[in-house]
Amino acid sequence: MKKKITVCMAVILAASVLMSCGGQAGEDRTESITDMTNESTDAPDQTDSDAETESATEPEAVDDAEVAEGEAKDEETENVDKAVILKDGVEKELECFVGTAITSQELGDAQIWTLITTHFNAVTLGNELKPDCMFGYSNDRCPGTEEVDLNGETIVVPTLDYSRSEKILDRLVKWNSDHPDHVIKARGHVLVWHSQTPEWFFHEDYDKNNDYVDTETMNKRLEWYIKTMLTHYTGEDSKYKDVFYGWDVVNEAVSDATGTYRSDSENSEEPLSNDTHGSNSSWWHVYRSNEYIINAFIYANKYAPASLELYYNDYNECMSNKKEGIIELLKAIKEQEGAPGEGTRIDAMGMQGHYQMGSPSMYEFEMAIRAYAAVVGNVQITEMDMKASEGYDGSAEAKEEEFEKQAQRYNTLYWAMKSANKEDNINITGLTFWGTTDRYSWLQSRSNVGGGNKVGLPECPLLFDEMYHPKPAFYVFAGEENK
Ligand code: GLA
Repeated sequence: MKKKITVCMAVILAASVLMSCGGQAGEDRTESITDMTNESTDAPDQTDSDAETESATEPEAVDDAEVAEGEAKDEETENVDKAVILKDGVEKELECFVGTAITSQELGDAQIWTLITTHFNAVTLGNELKPDCMFGYSNDRCPGTEEVDLNGETIVVPTLDYSRSEKILDRLVKWNSDHPDHVIKARGHVLVWHSQTPEWFFHEDYDKNNDYVDTETMNKRLEWYIKTMLTHYTGEDSKYKDVFYGWDVVNEAVSDATGTYRSDSENSEEPLSNDTHGSNSSWWHVYRSNEYIINAFIYANKYAPASLELYYNDYNECMSNKKEGIIELLKAIKEQEGAPGEGTRIDAMGMQGHYQMGSPSMYEFEMAIRAYAAVVGNVQITEMDMKASEGYDGSAEAKEEEFEKQAQRYNTLYWAMKSANKEDNINITGLTFWGTTDRYSWLQSRSNVGGGNKVGLPECPLLFDEMYHPKPAFYVFAGEENK
């Protein structure tokens, strides 16, 4: 069989082909963004230089009582329509993981949990495995240190906080043990990223007022971090070892502006001394080359179990300039492929899929899938969502029209995925949406000035509406015949 993943099958009819308009306008994905739960800073886009950058803050806590409440409310969600199942429709067409993002905040919402456990077979933790969260959101100063052994040498490392991720992962482990016939896997996200990584991590003694460390020191920190994360979550003794199917090793290391590697001066208005970065990369500042990317894949290959897939992930990935840059990066990683402990491994390209109504075109999208597959074989759509049309005001009338237009747009892109996937050497192994309902989408709370989205304007980027009901776009993937 062509695909790696064996999943249950259901019938879906091929949807009609609808051409989308092309063009690069509005291709940008992010300006200044607060994430799905308002807790994190995201990447200002290079096309939006006056975007504000916010500091990541402590996310709204979800305590055990809230989680328990979420569980107790499960009966109340029996009205969630379970007649048409999203993953059954997608698996019939693509035989891939069908995922959604989940954050700590959503864990307390029983209806979200019911939607996830009904319609998906995979999740990505929206924030809880990013470096800022792993360091307890102590973004302005190192939360504390300890001594550890790395390759026979004692090194000093920052203290990690596993608690937020484990609240979600424990729910998954329990679900999987109670429902062996419907296991939900996780996609690890992300080990190395210029954003949501505290600035102090790059400085002597983990103090941002000190000098940057040299590459030799940074390599040890990088290896320690990757080793510790992968061992904790996927190692032989980990209670989560059966949960993860893959991990984003490096995220967004290519520049929108230049189409080469992201540098430390992507956005001249963003000081490198910021606690976390939207655009500029302190990884680049320390290394001034792609060495940290290659090393990240070498270390990930060294410490990951062979069954854990390793990915590169990026946005604006259909723009021709940036696509070429990503391809160069993928080739550089592939060139160093080798056995664990000796070389890199990369198993798929993660195309984030934060798209607009007008862009990318179906053609650009399919060409990008084909181009990445030509280098790495497997491709995943990892953070799919759709910005609303320009001028969308969220009124009842506009909503109905927008939902239909959005369904057509998703249909177009889905067609391109299915078309590319028919080729023997192209495997789409995952389709993940960046959230479940419009209610919690990161696009609802972004705070940009300028750019493709306007402050305060409503968005409806996902497959379920704010009231948790399936939208027309849902049936594009779940099967039009079920509508
Ligand atoms: C990026 C990151 C994600 C998330 C989204 C938007 O693409 O990879 O982790 O922050 O933006 O929320």
